[in-house]
Amino acid sequence: MAEPEAAAVRGPAARPAAAGRADQSTRVSILFVGDVVGSVGRRTLLDCLPILRERYGPTFIVVNGENVAGGLGITPKAADELLGAGVDAITLGNHTYHRREIYPYLDAQPRIVRPANFLRSQPGHGVCVVERDGARLGVVNLSGNLYLRAGRSAFTEIEVALRELGEVEHVLVDVHAEATSEKVAMGWHLDGRVTAVLGTHTHVPTADARVLPHGTAYITDVGMTGARGGVIGVKREQAIEALLTQMPIRFETSEEDPWLMGVLIRCSQPLRADSIEQVLMPRPAATPRSPAAGQVP
Ligand SMILES: [Fe+2]
Ligand SMILES: [Fe+2]
Repeated sequence: MAEPEAAAVRGPAARPAAAGRADQSTRVSILFVGDVVGSVGRRTLLDCLPILRERYGPTFIVVNGENVAGGLGITPKAADELLGAGVDAITLGNHTYHRREIYPYLDAQPRIVRPANFLRSQPGHGVCVVERDGARLGVVNLSGNLYLRAGRSAFTEIEVALRELGEVEHVLVDVHAEATSEKVAMGWHLDGRVTAVLGTHTHVPTADARVLPHGTAYITDVGMTGARGGVIGVKREQAIEALLTQMPIRFETSEEDPWLMGVLIRCSQPLRADSIEQVLMPRPAATPRSPAAGQVP
């Protein structure tokens, strides 16, 4: 059986009472999974989830699904499959609108969020609240403004988004951004005001997971859930050919060496993280309901 690799980074052991009351509703753990790429990423997630549930018993599971449909975007069927597998909320990013059939779904399904700093006129919404075991988790999706198309500033719109959430025990912010500087800055900007600021989009996990001084769990990028044998999810020979020839190439999703990449956050006080640990896990070997890793049909 594949074993998740994890290294926990802990925050300050004790916090002042002013940080808030601790009761059952604030003792939660949150599993957040990075960009699920293609059907191989989806199957990897579905195969890993039972193991991670048993190992960590997460209260909430949040997944970035912006690449779930063939590597670009998400369809209602794929979103339903994730939610049906026990995912509490889905976040997105710059590929939100790649599949037109998702547009009405984004308006109708409260548990899927696209960046809150997109234009208000664009389909969907940027925040949601999910509830489990008496705890409410607010989920906010933001897009970076450097090198990505987002109609409004992430740094101003986060204030609107946090007000929109209302009373919640915990808040997870998925900052979907290219530039590390924007993500690091957002972590500091929100330290002590939200439970976690988690970066996505680059598909490569960073080594800076930590709890910031005022209690916010932070990582610049959690990585992706998909084929490590490719180049950020696409077949490596195609990516290399595109770089070598400087000509347009039709990319296909790689299926080689699939891994789940995410983080687990443990909390015992409202809007504070006790720890954040990376979860980097290869797709488990064959089970009765799935083919072996690397032998995807
Ligand atoms: Fe992205
Ligand atoms: Fe992505």
